[in-house]
Amino acid sequence: MAVFEIFSHAELRRYRSHIFSKATALQVFITLLTYILPLVVIYLNDGIWISDARFRDQPKIVFKKELLFLLYTTGSTQSYVTYSTFENYNKLQQNSLRIPLIKSVEEDINGDGKLDNLQLTLEVPLYDSENVVAIEMLLFFHYELHKHGSITMNSMAYIHHSSVIPGAKINVYGTLETVQRIPLHYKGNNIRFNTSIIDSDSVYASAYDLSNILKKYHERNVTTKLIEPYYAWTIGRGAKMPFIISVNIKYPWQEFMYPFTDLPTLVILSEDSKLCNLSVADLKYVSHKIQSY
Ligand SMILES: *[C@@H]1O[C@H](CO)[C@@H](O)[C@H](O)[C@H]1NC(C)=O
Ligand SMILES: *[C@@H]1O[C@H](CO)[C@@H](O)[C@H](O)[C@H]1NC(C)=O
Ligand SMILES: *[C@@H]1O[C@H](CO)[C@@H](O)[C@H](O)[C@H]1NC(C)=O
Repeated sequence: MAVFEIFSHAELRRYRSHIFSKATALQVFITLLTYILPLVVIYLNDGIWISDARFRDQPKIVFKKELLFLLYTTGSTQSYVTYSTFENYNKLQQNSLRIPLIKSVEEDINGDGKLDNLQLTLEVPLYDSENVVAIEMLLFFHYELHKHGSITMNSMAYIHHSSVIPGAKINVYGTLETVQRIPLHYKGNNIRFNTSIIDSDSVYASAYDLSNILKKYHERNVTTKLIEPYYAWTIGRGAKMPFIISVNIKYPWQEFMYPFTDLPTLVILSEDSKLCNLSVADLKYVSHKIQSY
């Protein structure tokens, strides 16, 4: 025969204990754990508010056809030869000036309107008695990044290498990466560093002093840098041969950081943990849809 429910009522049980007892202590502990455990988990996962976000992009980098180099030589006397594309510097360095043959090519390999690499070759004429043992070189670039906020600046690559054996040629292979000490602005156009790194109007040697230039550049929060370049140093320069500097620099895609708090949108972490992104307008649309159901 089928059984059916004819009546039901909820039962309330009360458990009582003294305030100083194991049962009370356990109950207090469990109650606290209920609230504290989630906070601990959030803390260990870098907080409930994501403070910065990242995106990938390729900046627009163009070689400004500006450079400065010093080749340190040994021989009868220890000295250097130098050249720059800055007239005032060359005037100051007349005794050590050596005018090279310069060739540069920049390529846009994938045709996306952004240059992808620079090939630069310099042939520096030398006397046979001059043996090159070290090089320092600065290359100057125009840099733009247009994603969220824009940044337009002048940036630089610093190349330096030395060897105990005099060289005939140096090949440099590097990647020009952006170094960010603070998150980029989400909005607006940052043109604070859109000024020349070297004050080429200056007629004073201090304006072209490498340590001064590097010090000022290092103070900036956004710079570019050759990240761990490879140097191939070829020895055995023949009589009357120039010293050859060959530089190959890639302008890569890379990850940029910007503050999340500036973001005027709501970001939801979806299951595949991709960021999906709803603007205020999207939200209004969604809530309107929900209401109409
Ligand atoms: C950056 O500086 C260059 C040269 O001074 C200028 O032509 C250019 O308009 C500037 N760019 C911006 C975005 O201000
Ligand atoms: C770099 O960032 C810090 C912190 O935001 C700021 O105080 C400083 O002025 C910035 N320096 C330059 C050169 O922009
Ligand atoms: C969020 O949306 C904005 C505007 O639609 C877009 O530019 C940005 O790339 C999106 N961000 C992410 C992380 O998808």
